Amino acid sequence: MAEAMDHQLTILRRGMIIACTVTVLIIGLVTYQLHTHITKLITFPIHRNHIRVINEWPLCPIQKNTNDICIHRQANQTQIEVICGKINATTTSTTTTTTISLGSDCKERDYDLIVVPKELMQDVSDHVKRIMIVQGDGKNFGQELDGFVQTRSQWVIDPFGGDGFEILKTFKEDKERMSLQAQLDRLQHRCTNFFYGIINRSGFGSVWHTAGLGLAWTLYYNMTLFIQLDEHLQPKPSFQGFIPTTTCSYSDLEAAFTTLPPETDFSKWTDSTVNFKSLTDDVGPLGDKRELIIPTFNHRGHFWWRSVLTYYVIRPNAQTREWIRGLQQQQGEGLQEHDRATTVMLRTRDCISIHVRHGDKGTESRLIPFYRYMTKAYEIHERTGVSNIYLMTDDQKVIEATKNYPTFKIYYQIMPRTNRGWEKDVTSGKVSREDQAKMFLKDLYSTTQCRHTIVTYSSNVGRLIGEIRMATEYEAPDVFSMDAVWVMEP
Ligand SMILES: *[C@@H]1O[C@H](CO)[C@@H](O)[C@H](O)[C@H]1NC(C)=O
Ligand SMILES: *[C@@H]1O[C@H](CO)[C@@H](O)[C@H](O)[C@H]1NC(C)=O
Ligand SMILES: *[C@@H]1O[C@H](CO)[C@@H](O)[C@H](O)[C@H]1NC(C)=O
Ligand SMILES: *[C@@H]1O[C@H](CO)[C@@H](O)[C@H](O)[C@H]1NC(C)=O
Repeated sequence: MAEAMDHQLTILRRGMIIACTVTVLIIGLVTYQLHTHITKLITFPIHRNHIRVINEWPLCPIQKNTNDICIHRQANQTQIEVICGKINATTTSTTTTTTISLGSDCKERDYDLIVVPKELMQDVSDHVKRIMIVQGDGKNFGQELDGFVQTRSQWVIDPFGGDGFEILKTFKEDKERMSLQAQLDRLQHRCTNFFYGIINRSGFGSVWHTAGLGLAWTLYYNMTLFIQLDEHLQPKPSFQGFIPTTTCSYSDLEAAFTTLPPETDFSKWTDSTVNFKSLTDDVGPLGDKRELIIPTFNHRGHFWWRSVLTYYVIRPNAQTREWIRGLQQQQGEGLQEHDRATTVMLRTRDCISIHVRHGDKGTESRLIPFYRYMTKAYEIHERTGVSNIYLMTDDQKVIEATKNYPTFKIYYQIMPRTNRGWEKDVTSGKVSREDQAKMFLKDLYSTTQCRHTIVTYSSNVGRLIGEIRMATEYEAPDVFSMDAVWVMEP
């Protein structure tokens, strides 16, 4: 259902830039002290010594390669031991020595991983190299984490989290990543100059690519990207599924427009607040200046650059994380068990995810039959032994064909698949736009959870999957495209 409008991409290419973003120039100060870390969340079993390998609920959140751990003296050690096994100060296995500091405040130096109660996460966060396990519970826990990462985008919240704790990932050892996130955080909460635009309705994938591109321009022009995902200009709350890209309010925007009138002349962007009304008229000129927006990070590659920017605008918020974990839903016989089994499987990350884009996509590019994806899946299975598959598809026939592959245990969402494209499903009243967005996000983030992924990069959603994996992992992800190589313009 996702990118119905890939074909519009070319047309929108220039427009996108503009459309997405509104910005304000940076006039001045940079007040934000960013704590530096990015995060991602992954739940892994520990394979070490007497620390148990647990493959069922809940999974131990300590990764097997984590060797230098601090458990804060105010952390609930029992909670970790219940799922990971008894913790000793030093554990040695045949290949590694794991140091676990107990009883300190985890601030004497930096650690690979720190376990801390939520009240103290900010206190220790500068000392985390990779993972922070934040213990907490309750209705507001998710929102508190959203507030924490909103202005500290170096942290990534694991969408599949845990029970009684959440896993936050950061990239402290990657200085460039940290610097890029710090720049974004500095600009997105300054509220002085705005780059303000509307993202007109389009495919799920292309909307967010457009927003990511908007960030590239606002970074260049030192503005705050303020976006509305609607075709109308009146103030409306932006889409609620993500952590808002800015803490600035609509009245900040109006105030900025009072001080500095909205500028639609591209050549004057550097000294004004920018308002876009028309993609074609206002945005066009940007397309010719693309070299400006791929600056100092060039050597990291375009894929890295666009991945980090796009991920910034689609960080799932607490509500979305709840949807995609699928643990709260009761609407139907057996559905909850199904969701739970899928979530447990995804928490292990030992799976191959496959995005089969059929549906209306055939009008844009040649469809690849399911068996060819499965041929690739067999190759991955031979190489890795992995036999769980998470399948994302809009084609009910593909779901029916899964019974021909008994080698694999294939998981997928239970949802209507009409093969007609997401836009038609909404206009015909088959599904509400909100439900569709929920199902899509759940599929998207489930797909990015697997360690091995098969997509078509001709699809905006396929590219988005590759980008999310790139932005949230330490190593280049194992993503295979059945057709094109990854490209993004610009
Ligand atoms: C620590 O965690 C254990 C296991 O989850 C729980 O039973 C206990 O109540 C927790 N202790 C405190 C002080 O929160
Ligand atoms: C670690 O804990 C295990 C299990 O409780 C125990 O048998 C072992 O002696 C401990 N090792 C050290 C070095 O304390
Ligand atoms: C944005 O801000 C940086 C740092 O203050 C400055 O070096 C740069 O020239 C500014 N860019 C523009 C386009 O004004
Ligand atoms: C958004 O699209 C609608 C329908 O295509 C069009 O009427 C409207 O002018 C567009 N809005 C913007 C801001 O481009």
